[in-house]
Amino acid sequence: MAVFHLPRHVSDVEALKQQAGIAACDFVKDGMKIGLGTGSTVRYTVLELGRRMQEEGLSVVGVPTSEATRELAESLNIPLVPLAEAGVLDLIIDGADEFDSDFALIKGGGGALTREKIVAQSSNAMVVVADDRKQVEILGDFDLPIEVLPFEWKRTADRVAEICPGPVVRRGGDEPFISDNGGYILDCSFGSTITNPSELESALLGIAGVVEVGLFVAICDAVVMAASGGVVTLVKQGGRLA
Ligand code: A5P
Repeated sequence: MAVFHLPRHVSDVEALKQQAGIAACDFVKDGMKIGLGTGSTVRYTVLELGRRMQEEGLSVVGVPTSEATRELAESLNIPLVPLAEAGVLDLIIDGADEFDSDFALIKGGGGALTREKIVAQSSNAMVVVADDRKQVEILGDFDLPIEVLPFEWKRTADRVAEICPGPVVRRGGDEPFISDNGGYILDCSFGSTITNPSELESALLGIAGVVEVGLFVAICDAVVMAASGGVVTLVKQGGRLA
């Protein structure tokens, strides 16, 4: 079945992001250790957590997945701890650039994929917040981000190109975009063809210089998705939140 998305007004999309971001807070319980994702949708989750802490006495600690999220959480007085200190987290809530029916994800549109995957793999469950433009049948319409070391990155890009169509180094103005880790991001234009994300992820991780791949397979347990008809929570059968 083809998935068609009609163009929407920017303010409509923003409202959907806000609805999804806030609704995901239903998964949060007092005393939890929460991974705080990165991006414009999960930003609303962090804002809502801050509000609930201030107005309703909710008590949580967070582990941020980027410097941007760290700054936001600190501005809201959400207590933060390093992952090594927190141990296993109860939950991570994060955005995604695409998700398919197996709950496999493309992430990294904001360049935070490596920290996001580290924190997600240290969490007992993962909830994604998204508007319905992110739901796809087959991953790859969104360019796949890959973080690489700057050292001899062109050689790494050549090897990535043997597997991925058109790796392009992400720019931040005239210079390459630099991640929070000091890495570069290669964006690969597959089109909707990634039918075996797990295999692709493994192949890319086998290339020296590749730090992390923006494919999240068998990590996400639920998607809180906002559409014009309302917010639905899709829970993965057999997942950790089923
Ligand atoms: C950050 O690197 C990404 O993985 C984001 O989580 C993803 O790009 C979704 O961001 P938006 O909610 O801003 O679309």
